[in-house]
Parts: sequence; structure tokens; C-alpha cells
Amino acid sequence: MEKAQQTLRAGMAGLGMIFEETYLPAFIDLRKAPLYSRETGPVEVQWTAAATRTGARGQKYLAQLPGALPTFTNHHGPQALDEMLKQGVHLVCVATPDDRHFQAAKKSLEAGKHVLIEKPSVLKLEQLDVLVETARKNCVLAKVVYHKLADPDHKKLRTHYADGVLKHVNNGFCSLLEPKQISGQQFAEWIQGRNPGTYVAVHYIKLIDFSFGPSSCQPGWKLWRIGATGQRGLVGKPDGKTWDSCQLQVTYLHPDNREATFDIHTSWVNPDNFPGYVEQEVQFRFDNGIWNAHQRKRGVEMAVEDRSPHEIKNTPNHHYNGDFLEPWGARSRRGYGIEIIRKFFEEVAQVEFGGEKKDRETRLKAMSDLHYNDLSADRNTVAIVQALEALLEEHAGENPGCQVFVNDPLGGLVLRSPGGKPPRVLYSGTV
Ligand SMILES: NC(=O)c1ccc[n+]([C@@H]2O[C@H](COP(=O)([O-])OP(=O)(O)OC[C@H]3O[C@@H](n4cnc5c(N)ncnc54)[C@H](O)[C@@H]3O)[C@@H](O)[C@H]2O)c1
Repeated sequence: MEKAQQTLRAGMAGLGMIFEETYLPAFIDLRKAPLYSRETGPVEVQWTAAATRTGARGQKYLAQLPGALPTFTNHHGPQALDEMLKQGVHLVCVATPDDRHFQAAKKSLEAGKHVLIEKPSVLKLEQLDVLVETARKNCVLAKVVYHKLADPDHKKLRTHYADGVLKHVNNGFCSLLEPKQISGQQFAEWIQGRNPGTYVAVHYIKLIDFSFGPSSCQPGWKLWRIGATGQRGLVGKPDGKTWDSCQLQVTYLHPDNREATFDIHTSWVNPDNFPGYVEQEVQFRFDNGIWNAHQRKRGVEMAVEDRSPHEIKNTPNHHYNGDFLEPWGARSRRGYGIEIIRKFFEEVAQVEFGGEKKDRETRLKAMSDLHYNDLSADRNTVAIVQALEALLEEHAGENPGCQVFVNDPLGGLVLRSPGGKPPRVLYSGTV
């Protein structure tokens, strides 16, 4: 028998840069054709409501894209989220600045909505604990987006590691440099007191943790210690709390007690006329091999008079998110940045419409067991972010060079100072 068509209603908290790049094309695409799986049948995904600070961007989309999008309700101001939650949405995507994820996600979970949070999910393990528990109590999914896990090159890296082609990671470096326009214009409203590491190093923290940790093949792989330093003086004052760039170092222990250390360098003060917009590369070294990858140097190099490098990049990454004329004539916008959002909608559809009501709990468990995006599997990443923020705070407070130790005798996250200052327990539970 044909299954009846179902509708999944989505709410968006935050309509900024990442919304425009990934959620908006996903919603536009889903307006053209429903999701489909054998278990669910066709499922319409409808963007039903938005909650933002000023409402201006929602207004813009309603005016510019009639027909391409459903007429969503556009809420703004302090009550926006509460109003949005009353619009019958099944799920909420949280794409507000990273220090505003927690409240929006908590309220949405408490209201019984499935939640997808932009990276980094939250800034503290206590917050993660609350969200995971709230999702469990309310029988909904709580997930986070790390789109780099869906990059085909990163999938292949993990596949090689899981299959034993690349053996025993020893060390590596990753760098992600954002242009000055990000710190100077795009994020000017919320950048005070923030750092580029929390914002972008998380991509690589997650990639490392997910690719080389228990999700691939190493049950005994343990996060051990975290160090960080950084530079100031361009975005904010040289002695202030707003960082231009930071260098993070993370050490894990393999089950055989050999160490693996990763350096992650990030900045948001790279020149705006840099040819690729964002500079991103990695190198991972193994007992028996090496992996070098560059996000934008994947083969294409181009220049167009008067349009490059700003509007049309010299070394574009067409895998993340690009506009294409398909060979069969259709226009499309596709890439792993969009695919990973769509995957979350499929997971929610599976829970809500993938079988009989009595089996919902089994389906919920199956979707929560997907470690690539479940909040419960984000512990190491959040622990590193929390440590990074504390290390930079100590540094700004004239106590540079501290280290954070994980699952130390004093607690789950313990910050130790070089000058004999007493240790500070950042998180007492087990990471
Ligand atoms: N996956 C990625 O590569 C990627 C890239 C960029 C940003 N992000 C993440 O997405 C999130 C948003 O970043 P962005 O670049 O879109 O930021 P942005 O500054 O462009 O937009 C932020 C949006 O949040 C809204 N907002 C702010 N405070 C709010 C509140 N209290 N309630 C409701 N809405 C509020 C603003 O009105 C705006 O629409 C961040 O967590 C960031 O780390 C992810």
C-alpha cells in the first residue's frame, strides 16, 4: 500500500551566514521534492518558522524568494524562540552565535522538539550534559553539524584508517584561516571576547576525534591533555579578551600508551584578497604513511577579470557547496555542507514516520546511535573547546602557558598553571 505523505515542520533559530550557505539551499531543494525512504514514504520538509534578533534577514527572504520557500512565520526579539516553538514545528535548527546555542537548544528540547545545533554544539561539558539528558527525557534527537565529516576526502581518510591501510596516527597539523572580513564585518556584533579557535578549530577537533577514535576502530583511544596560545591586537586590544589567532595543541593516548599530538592553527585576520577566501589544510602522519590534504587546492585554478578573487575564487572548493548547471539541464546547489543538513532531516523523518508508533523508541535509539552527529558523542570536542576557552582566559589574565589535563585525579578537566598557582577544576565529572 502507498504510504500517505507526511510533513516535517522545521524552525530556524538564527539566519546568518551559515543559514544562507547550507540551510537555505536545503530548504529550497526540499520545496521541489520530498525526502523519501522505503520506511517513511515521501516526507515534505517545510521551513515553517524563524527566530532571530532583528527579523531583518527573515524579512529579506520572504521578500526575495516567494514561491521558492514556504511562507514561514518570522519571529524576532527576546520572545522569538518561544513564539517559534508554538508554531507546531517538529525540529529546531540552532544557528545562532556559538555562545547562544545552549539556551535555544535547551528550550527547544524541553518543548519536545528534535534539535540540530551548528558547531561547536556548546562551550561547556555541563551544558552538554544538560542537553543530552533533556533530549533523553523528552524522547527527541539532539544532534550537531560538523560538515567536514561528510567531505569525501575525509570520508576516505577515515575509511583508510578503519580498514588498517593507514596505521596508528602519530601526529598532525591542521590550519584554518578566515579572512579579516569575518572578524571585522560578519561577526562584528558578537566577536567581543571570542576567539577563532572555538569557532573553526572545532571542525578539525571533531575530524581527528571521529576519524581516529572509537567511532572508527580504536576503543581505547583517550584524550589526555590540551594546551593553547594565541595573539591579539588586530580585532581587539593587545591585552584584551578578543583573539586574532590561536594555536591549539591536543594530545591523545593510544591503547598501547604511545602519544598522538595534533596542532590546530586558526585565525580570522587573513587578508581579504587571499585567493581562496578560507585557507584550510591538514597533514596527518601515521606509523606507515602520511596524508596531506588541502581544501581548496583540489585541482581547479581560475581567474576572471574584475571578479576574482572576491566574487569568484581562484582556487574554489566545489565540494562543500556550489551552484551547478547539471548535465540534464537543471540548476542545482549541492555539496557536503548541504547533504549533512538533509541527513538530519532524514533521521528525524525516520523517527517520526519510519514505522509504527509503538516502535518509535527503537527508531529513536537507532538514530541516536549515529555517533557522527549525536550530542552524546561530542564530549571530547566540547571538552577541548572548554579547555581552549579556559586557557585563553588564563592567558588574558596574565597566566599564559597553562595545560588542561583530562580525567585527572582531581576531575574530568583540570587546568594546571606553570607558576605553581593551584589547579582549577573546569569539569568535575568524567569526560
Ligand atoms: N559549519 C560551518 O562551517 C559554519 C560556518 C559558519 C558558522 N557556523 C556556525 O553557525 C553559527 C552561526 O554562525 P553564522 O556565521 O551564521 O553567524 P552570523 O553572525 O552570520 O548569524 C547569526 C544569526 O543568529 C541570530 N541571532 C543572534 N542571537 C540570537 C538569539 N539570541 N536568538 C535568535 N537568533 C539570534 C542573528 O540574528 C543572525 O541571524 C555559529 O555557531 C557558527 O559557529 C558554522
